[in-house]
Amino acid sequence: MNSSTYADLIRERYDKASRTRRAREALYLCLRHLVLDGALRAGEPLPPSRLLAGELRLGRSTVVRVYEQLLLEGYLCGRAGSGTFVSEDLPPAMSAGASRGAAPAGGLLSNRGREIERHATSSHIQGGAFVPGVPDVGLFPFATWRRLLSKNLCFEQRHLARYSQGGFGPLKSALADYLRVSRMMHCSPAQILILNGSHQAIDLCARMLCDPGDAVWMEDPGYWGARNVLRANGLELVPVPVDVDGMMPELAPPGSHPRLVFVSPSCQYPTGVTMSLARRLQLLETARRHEAWIIEDDYDNEIRYYPHIIGSLFGQAEQPGLQRVLYLGTFSKTMFPGLRLAYLVVPEALAEPFAVGNAELYREGRLVEQAALAEFIEAGHFSRHLRRMRSVYQERRTILRRAIESRLGDRVSTAGGQAGLNLAYLFAETLDDVELARRALHAGIVFRPMSMYYDASRGSRVGMNLGFAAVSAEDITIAADRLCSVVEAYLVKR
Ligand SMILES: Cc1ncc(COP(=O)(O)O)c(C=O)c1O
Repeated sequence: MNSSTYADLIRERYDKASRTRRAREALYLCLRHLVLDGALRAGEPLPPSRLLAGELRLGRSTVVRVYEQLLLEGYLCGRAGSGTFVSEDLPPAMSAGASRGAAPAGGLLSNRGREIERHATSSHIQGGAFVPGVPDVGLFPFATWRRLLSKNLCFEQRHLARYSQGGFGPLKSALADYLRVSRMMHCSPAQILILNGSHQAIDLCARMLCDPGDAVWMEDPGYWGARNVLRANGLELVPVPVDVDGMMPELAPPGSHPRLVFVSPSCQYPTGVTMSLARRLQLLETARRHEAWIIEDDYDNEIRYYPHIIGSLFGQAEQPGLQRVLYLGTFSKTMFPGLRLAYLVVPEALAEPFAVGNAELYREGRLVEQAALAEFIEAGHFSRHLRRMRSVYQERRTILRRAIESRLGDRVSTAGGQAGLNLAYLFAETLDDVELARRALHAGIVFRPMSMYYDASRGSRVGMNLGFAAVSAEDITIAADRLCSVVEAYLVKR
């Protein structure tokens, strides 16, 4: 391996370690692990400190000091004038696990645990241009929220400090009213479960409705978070293509029988397209035929830039016969992601078993926040905040569109943008969008490459998923300009 290949390996490990540690310690631990693992082989050269510092966006002195420490401890050796090398004196048995002496024979993690690690996609970067899916928490009415929280966090309201049984009733009633008006859904509060975020809701659905090995149809491209949770439950992920009308059930592999289908019909993630009525009806019919359940992920329908309301799939499925749609909503985009409050509306037949499953698996609580949220909704703060944020986001989205499309022209296209916090651009030509994202990161811009939303077993399109919501209008123009320069330079030099 040459030293620049090593630089890639080190960067990958360093990125993971730096989520939880300071730069110098993270780099030290990452290099030590790589040596002990044997990933950096005895006698091989390390990247020059200047090159590695540039790759990791660290000061050169940080890298030099880490090299010096490892030289001192004997992991590395230096040859005068010819660089730093992995020491040749380490015993071969000195693997990371053996050196700590703690790893059980079968490894630290279960197969499932290793799979979760292998597919890890969550990012520690949660703000700035253009991290997708992040709302502008700076515009949230914290003073109001604090007042409602402290009103419910007191001796008089001490019953809210206990375990919860089925969530806070008034919040579920407020949600049932809200969903009737805004999503054309008819459900009783008993059909609503309050959960700690969408991932937990998806986990509950997988555990209560599926057995390991069952097939789940996933939008392709689709939400990596749902994919990871469902995979962790031992389900077989079956990618089903998406076009401008949403998921295409007719293109599912022949002979595949889904137990579960995961879709985001109002604003498909990440493309942003809205599922057409014809496709919705086709999907409901397909689910009926296969006796499959559908999870409708309605994560950001509230942030829409058109005046009319497109009803939910759950509402459209309210015909005679068994309701097969489970509706998933979250407050991560409308309030703030750290709140970790989502809700699942289940068909009547599932209300009781899901309530039991929720209580047994996760033990409910957080009634103080739920009480504050119920009041936040009932007193009109929620809809006021939404109205304000819709117009803020609409302006930011327009600025981003203009900036990207005026410079990149028909080299990029987007099919969505009618709702949500991100714009997904696809490139007309083939290129390496992961490499492009790496170069953009060097210029201080973060985007998610579109290829990472596709199932690895199918061909993927390439592009950039750009989140605009948490960036001020002025910063969008500057950052978009910088991003376009990176893209143009990449396209020229390829
Ligand atoms: C498609 C999609 N669904 C749901 C969520 C919300 O997840 P949570 O409620 O766990 O924050 C996100 C967040 O990024 C998302 O992108």
